[in-house]
Amino acid sequence: KEKGEVRIFEDTDELATDLADYVADLSELAVKEKGTFAIALSGGSLIGLMSKLCEAPYDKTVDWGKWHVFWADERVVAKTHPESNYRLAKEGLLSKVPVVPGHLHSINDSLSAEEAADDYKFAVRQLVRTRIVSVSDTSDCPKFDLVLLGLGSDGHVASLFPNHPALDEKDEWVSYLTDSPEPPPERITFTLPVINAAANVAVVATGAGKAKAVHLAVDGPSQTDNFQQPPPARMIQPALGRLVWFLDTSAASKLDSY
Ligand code: 6PG
Repeated sequence: KEKGEVRIFEDTDELATDLADYVADLSELAVKEKGTFAIALSGGSLIGLMSKLCEAPYDKTVDWGKWHVFWADERVVAKTHPESNYRLAKEGLLSKVPVVPGHLHSINDSLSAEEAADDYKFAVRQLVRTRIVSVSDTSDCPKFDLVLLGLGSDGHVASLFPNHPALDEKDEWVSYLTDSPEPPPERITFTLPVINAAANVAVVATGAGKAKAVHLAVDGPSQTDNFQQPPPARMIQPALGRLVWFLDTSAASKLDSY
């Protein structure tokens, strides 16, 4: 089983520097190849860890006008709500770089979770049609240039939680939840088929609280794990794309090979 490239950093500052470099390189490549960079963000600590992209040299060298920003998962709350992932990114990273406002593909916050998921799927479909987002070589799924994921201590990625039916989705691009085990309860999320169709997927995890989840996701459960189920993050296996884990030493501390 392909487990991806594992990058381990002494501290979060080093991780953030490498992450900025990685994102900037992928952006340059995608813009050169097809004129746009379609990136999907998640919530949580990830956005703070991307802050170096607002600094020199990236603030000037990245072709921000070509970015199209999506959310791998979003909480179904108003855009101004403290729990909105859009707000988190908008007030952090996106307030400091010149991404075109019309290129921020946020969810419609006046809809129910079910409607918002449908609406988001429709919006993505339009952008695939107009070639702003590429299409997968193996399915009709969108092929994002980069999907950036955080990791929960329970092993969730995006809003794909352990044992939740959204994990089993095979056809839909976007699922909705009204019973998220972590607040807020209503969320929408990209499904595994969409995440695994991306050209690049990065999972970013820091801190000892993530160590067990990182081990179960990267190494897979072994006998000493008492037959624990593999976590959702273990199911991130891009079909043709590249998977990179960005970990600090604490999050990496339980890896078999550490
Ligand atoms: C969300 C996120 C979620 C997050 C993880 C890790 O909207 O809740 O997209 O998947 O990335 O819960 O969050 P932390 O990095 O803050 O622990």
